[in-house]
Amino acid sequence: MVNVKGLKIGEGQPKICVPVVAGNIEEIKNQANRIMFTPADMVEWRVDHLRRSDDIPSVLVALEVLKENLQDKPVLFTFRTAEEGGKKRISAEKYSNLYEAVIKSGNADLIDIEYFLGNRIIKPLIKMAHEHGIKVILSNHDFKKTPPADEMIKRMTGMKNAGADIAKIAVMPHSSSDVLELLTATEAMKKIENPIPIITVSMSALGLVSRITGEVFGSAVTFASAGRTSAPGQIDADELDRITNTIHYNLKDSDRIKLNESAKNVRFKNKRNIILIGFMGTGKTTVGKRLGEKTGMIVKEIDDMIEESAGMSITSIFEKRGEEAFRDIESAQVNKVSNMEGVIVSCGGGTVMRRRNVDRLKRKGCIILLRGTPELVYERVKRGGDKRPLLNRYQSRGYISWLMKKRRDTYMAVADYIIDVDGKNSDIIADEILEFVYNRKKRR
Ligand code: S3P
Repeated sequence: MVNVKGLKIGEGQPKICVPVVAGNIEEIKNQANRIMFTPADMVEWRVDHLRRSDDIPSVLVALEVLKENLQDKPVLFTFRTAEEGGKKRISAEKYSNLYEAVIKSGNADLIDIEYFLGNRIIKPLIKMAHEHGIKVILSNHDFKKTPPADEMIKRMTGMKNAGADIAKIAVMPHSSSDVLELLTATEAMKKIENPIPIITVSMSALGLVSRITGEVFGSAVTFASAGRTSAPGQIDADELDRITNTIHYNLKDSDRIKLNESAKNVRFKNKRNIILIGFMGTGKTTVGKRLGEKTGMIVKEIDDMIEESAGMSITSIFEKRGEEAFRDIESAQVNKVSNMEGVIVSCGGGTVMRRRNVDRLKRKGCIILLRGTPELVYERVKRGGDKRPLLNRYQSRGYISWLMKKRRDTYMAVADYIIDVDGKNSDIIADEILEFVYNRKKRR
């Protein structure tokens, strides 16, 4: 696994990388803004499309602008040469100079270097990148054909031996067996000694299956478009995200069932708290109220407590004092409810992202995760006005899915019980919770 600014490449669901293919700075800004509405985990800047890519100062300015407009999404810097399907030719010397300047600028998180440029060029660049804390993808592209699996394995192993953090190969299929050949090479790379994350692509519509099955066969990143594509076969980022989410949730559903099974053995004692967690818009407040009605227990809504204690709305706290201050007030409210007994606690979506909040909450109660799809959440928050500062700026299904993925492993890890809420009303969900905590149905 390679960790780039918290993004774990080579673990779990393949990361979505959206290319920026722009001729000038204005286009870069527009595309970066558009990407923020998508579920992109990272961005590849294809600098060979920049009109002034031969002028290093212009490239550095453009890179800085791109970075500023992407918040904290990792940026992969790539000059794709004409020999490997890129837009321009470039001399070896200019290539090295360009990459050196970019490495020194500190504005790239990863760089893509073409493997076939040879050791004389790639070795010093890898060394320099690593000295600057930048990860290196060694890559190879064949836009004409699919080489035999053995050859692809040999190339990717060679990339690893040359010092790559990630090895990438993208090839063109002419038949379904070509696609299988690529998948065979992908699968085989899991079994080499000390494997590294790899990225494999079978291009064009025929190869699309290779872009969606990374979690099964072992390809760590998948490229998708937000408007403009940079290679044949790329599909829209939201569409790709839906498909890879479906695969991920089905592969992981066994975890959920295991968790729910073992949670059944946790005997729920009276006076314990019922703590509702989950992403914004999954219904924590509504379900909390329903539970209150059904049990007569007092409901504590962390968001309301925060607003009361700060004397202003959540939006104002974010605006005037920033997210960290908000989180501190939130932790203080968690401390308060953790001293109470027999209450229902409805958390904010981010409450359990702080470990110490989880520890406090767990001491007095059990944690129920309400899990919903990005589609459901988007439909709900769209209607809800601007109460949620985190979702206001890039209100879209894609942004929600991106944030949800950042949080879902933590949600899963802290939950004692998980309920999928899509298609269920609050009454049914509340009954399901009561059945879990008391092992019996409660009065209506
Ligand atoms: C937040 C969720 C909100 C609220 C704040 C931050 C989050 O609560 O605490 O806007 O980080 O997910 P809801 O989940 O109840 O909307």
